[in-house]
Amino acid sequence: MNGPPEPFKIKMIEHVNMPDQKKRSQAIREAGYNTFLLKSEDVYIDLLTDSGTSAMSDVQWSGMMLGDEAYAGARSFYNLEKAIQDVLGYKYVVPTHQGRGAEHLMYGHLTKPGQIVPRNMYFTTSKAHVELAGGTMVDAIIDEAHDPQNLYPFKGNMDLKKLQGYIDEYGLEKIAFVNVELNVNMSGGQPVSMQNLRELREFCNDYNLKIIFDATRSSENAYFIREREKGYEDTPIIDILREMMSYSDGCIYSAKKDCLVNMGGFLATHSEEIFDYTRGMVVLFEGLHTYGGMSGRDMEAVALGLREGAQYQYLKYRINQVRYLGELLIKAGVSIVRPIGGHGVFLDALKFLPHLPRDQWPAQTLSAAIYEDSAVRSMERGAVSKGRDKDTGENVFPKLELVRLTIPRRVYTNTHMEYVAESLIRLHEKREEITGLKMVFEPKHLRFFQARFEKL
Ligand SMILES: Cc1ncc(COP(=O)(O)O)c(C=O)c1O
Repeated sequence: MNGPPEPFKIKMIEHVNMPDQKKRSQAIREAGYNTFLLKSEDVYIDLLTDSGTSAMSDVQWSGMMLGDEAYAGARSFYNLEKAIQDVLGYKYVVPTHQGRGAEHLMYGHLTKPGQIVPRNMYFTTSKAHVELAGGTMVDAIIDEAHDPQNLYPFKGNMDLKKLQGYIDEYGLEKIAFVNVELNVNMSGGQPVSMQNLRELREFCNDYNLKIIFDATRSSENAYFIREREKGYEDTPIIDILREMMSYSDGCIYSAKKDCLVNMGGFLATHSEEIFDYTRGMVVLFEGLHTYGGMSGRDMEAVALGLREGAQYQYLKYRINQVRYLGELLIKAGVSIVRPIGGHGVFLDALKFLPHLPRDQWPAQTLSAAIYEDSAVRSMERGAVSKGRDKDTGENVFPKLELVRLTIPRRVYTNTHMEYVAESLIRLHEKREEITGLKMVFEPKHLRFFQARFEKL
């Protein structure tokens, strides 16, 4: 057996279409070779993202019926607050409509114009919100993270020497705060170790620097700590989560991932000062501080999902399904980021399409080619996502040029994973035939969402 069997059974299904070759070619051309611009009805297996795409449980659906839609002081908010206090150990909670709402409030509050925000590795919306506040996000992840084949078990770790380098280079007063993403998305879903978090806390205490987590995939990170870090083999996931969060001053959280819901987010903190400010601002941008852009039923589903998503048996099934797909590809010689990450399998587009120069957007090209071949939707995570240098305006070509096959939670079966693997292996065999793309439309912000391309 490939990992543990599903710790659930299926109560409801959704029909999906399999468009034919002609339709697929037309759809991707009309979408400007950008998988974000495809219609979902033209997609057979949707691995664009794990964000907001989970299947909720019967418990969550019934919780939605109990959602309290009061404008102020809804019972559902207090249930959410209690779940966050229990599972993550933060005292103060500010709900937001999704993760970027929390980023806006938190990063906007802590960043002053001209300041630097070191983070293990950037994420698109995080970088954008730091820049909106006049700051600059810089990467401080360990070098191992930039090598897709390096098997280091905690490739999300912060490099304290790089952090020290930024302090020396810019001066302490220029460092707004230190930002740590748990289970780093852009490096392939790679975890941060508890030891690294502990050391980082000591380091930041010496400089009186705040640590803010992007805890969006913290439960999956906690699973990897239990699996890989000595001393945590038998520790309950919630205990691991609470210890992780104890090393931060606060976090932003997109609930659309590990909380197994379709919409929601929050920020949470141990700091009364951060809470007072963000609770004051949430009413301007999101909604009253007891709903922050979510309906009562959304908050109810997040509260239940946070607890469900932190169950060990569920996480074991989840991580092993991703691993199953990755291992099928490795066996067939397709180059992917290793160790296999938490939320998806990341194809190394530079190895898949070595004949394409970087300015022909290899990852974008590969992601479009995968759709055209099999109606599987993936996402570019390379130079198109990284964008341009905000000072020089030049394209930045990051070391990692990846295509992300992100696995929605509790949605697809292992037979679906086999279909994806078989199509990719077929495409890999005829990869020399794939030609590059040129960008013909480039939006100013977060260009990967709406950019358009033509085949060269
Ligand atoms: C690591 C990380 N942070 C923040 C966000 C933003 O969250 P949202 O999409 O809920 O606004 C995401 C979304 O994909 C993410 O992966």
